[in-house]
Amino acid sequence: MTATAERHVLGAPPPDDILLDVRNLKTIFHVMDGDVPAVDGVSFQLRPGRSIGIVGESGSGKSVTALTIMRLLDIPPAEVKADSEIWFDGKELLRLPMNEMRKIRGNDIAMIFQEPLTSLNPVFTIGDQIAEQVELHLKVKKKEAWERAIESLKLVGIPSPERRVKQYPHEMSGGMRQRVMIAMALSCEPKLLIADEPTTALDVTIQAQILELLKSIQDRTDSALMLITHDLGVVAEMVEDVVVMYAGQVVETGSVDQVLLEPRDPYTMGLIESIPTVDKRGGRLSVIKGTVPSPFNLPPACRFEPRCPYAWDHCRKVAPDLFQTDHAGQLARCHLHTAAGVGRREQALEVHAQAMTVGRDLRSQR
Ligand SMILES: Nc1ncnc2c1ncn2[C@@H]1O[C@H](COP(=O)(O)OP(=O)(O)OP(=O)(O)O)[C@@H](O)[C@H]1O
Ligand code: SF4
Ligand SMILES: [Mg+2]
Repeated sequence: MTATAERHVLGAPPPDDILLDVRNLKTIFHVMDGDVPAVDGVSFQLRPGRSIGIVGESGSGKSVTALTIMRLLDIPPAEVKADSEIWFDGKELLRLPMNEMRKIRGNDIAMIFQEPLTSLNPVFTIGDQIAEQVELHLKVKKKEAWERAIESLKLVGIPSPERRVKQYPHEMSGGMRQRVMIAMALSCEPKLLIADEPTTALDVTIQAQILELLKSIQDRTDSALMLITHDLGVVAEMVEDVVVMYAGQVVETGSVDQVLLEPRDPYTMGLIESIPTVDKRGGRLSVIKGTVPSPFNLPPACRFEPRCPYAWDHCRKVAPDLFQTDHAGQLARCHLHTAAGVGRREQALEVHAQAMTVGRDLRSQR
């Protein structure tokens, strides 16, 4: 933690039915060219056993959010601002001594990374690696840890687990290694599983199997799931709630149905309209114009303003808060949800509705 963190007066712990409460998280990287505000005031909550998806374009701050929760960033060059709080299971993680944080990591919170080969140690067998984690976190004897390793490989559908535990990571395919990572993550029965693009490096058919596996194990073990992905199709299948990030900020949150079926932030609308679906075959695929802003040169108020079809003067002058939308529990960082934005909001909703019906009309004509 940074020295400034000491001066912040912590808020009250969240109620017991909130497992993870991220409050105003701000992570900055101090680099040669200046400061990168990678995560800038991010807040969200996750209940025990529930699932949340974190989505957004590349560079929006998804992984840095997860790595800050796990306290896996090097400080410096990273700095977590003093008024950030991360409450997990009644404890504030950013202020925990590192030895206590290590106990939580792998035991109560486990993380699955995008590329399983870089996360597994090439010089130890799969069994050694799982058993070591089990021994460390569950304080069981070596023999029992090995039995648990075999058991967890069985759970993730690895055939002949008694033989596989003796293999090295390079002897397995990408899909098998990701199963091993899931087995490792779940072998200590974590309360929270963070999966950062767990299937991006895998073939499409293997992706579906791994996601199905994650979902079934999450249901069975009652772990909460924080799933990071840029794939809205995966979000639709896998999670109950969604956080959409753009340029380090949360721009929309709500239930998966709210965010995917009735988005209220122009960025989310654009993301959904640009999904290539079978429905849209032959129709025009909408693409959000422009590119993600450089973290060294962010727009002064709304960060999406240079790309937004509904922007007006106000958006260049005043940074929007997360405003309540017309649906309970759904928030959008957009002035369309203030009195000044009513006319434009109706226009935005109409344009989005039309974009989403193009595909359906095409199909009905066939
Ligand atoms: N170690 C680092 N040093 C400096 N800048 C970093 C570092 N790690 C991440 N960043 C910057 O922080 C911002 C957020 O990065 P992050 O990795 O969280 O994006 P992401 O949403 O996970 O993107 P992707 O979908 O590509 O994985 C980016 O601008 C990135 O360049
Ligand atoms: S605040 Fe303005 S520029 Fe930003 S998303 Fe809303 S309408 Fe667009
Ligand atoms: Mg990432």
